[in-house]
Amino acid sequence: MQAMATPESAARPLIRPAHEDDAASLREIFNEAVQDGLATFDHEPRSLEEQRRLLATAAQHTRHPIQVAELRGWVIGWITVQTYDTRPQLDDVGEVTVFVRREFRKLGVGRQLMRAIQAEARNLGYRKFLGHVLADNADSRHLCRACGWREVGRYLQHARQQGILRDVVLVEYLVSETTTP
Ligand SMILES: CC(C)(COP(=O)(O)OP(=O)(O)OC[C@H]1O[C@@H](n2cnc3c(N)ncnc32)[C@H](O)[C@@H]1OP(=O)(O)O)[C@@H](O)C(=O)NCCC(=O)NCCS
Repeated sequence: MQAMATPESAARPLIRPAHEDDAASLREIFNEAVQDGLATFDHEPRSLEEQRRLLATAAQHTRHPIQVAELRGWVIGWITVQTYDTRPQLDDVGEVTVFVRREFRKLGVGRQLMRAIQAEARNLGYRKFLGHVLADNADSRHLCRACGWREVGRYLQHARQQGILRDVVLVEYLVSETTTP
């Protein structure tokens, strides 16, 4: 029997592309963030069918990968890059979202997922990543700063969650500082 991963042993997860059979784990981790009120623009739990559909879509689009952090066969976090804006001038800007299983947060897993996707950014054809973080999501803002992201500014009363409008911080990561406009 496979030994279950513990937070203490989370230091070195394997970062790999998501497989079709990761859907249940991805959904579980995403829904924890929803329950915790930390998923910026989502406040409804995701169904398994929806997660499977998103995985299948990602599998068909190499520029929108889903990477997972796996420890002893157990998925403990995941990260993805999605379309930020459909205007052709912005097709090399991607929006990143990242989620870590509740009991494995603050152990460096998010940082390793971010580093992995940032290392792939240029190969995937991105010049910039963006993210939208709830202003009171301290862990996510710390993670971004630790990974070289910049806070662009704060949208006031932006994300509607359970009837409340919450402020959102826009963050960006420049893939190549030398890119000319
Ligand atoms: C946000 C999230 C992905 C961060 O992942 P994580 O694995 O917990 O973050 P890490 O442990 O890699 O931390 C990254 C850095 O921030 C620091 N950090 C994390 N939380 C911190 C806190 N509350 N205060 C101070 N520093 C903190 C860590 O020390 C680390 O820096 P270091 O590597 O230089 O020590 C994770 O907390 C999560 O899944 N939260 C719920 C979902 C969510 O909010 N997703 C983002 C939506 S946009």
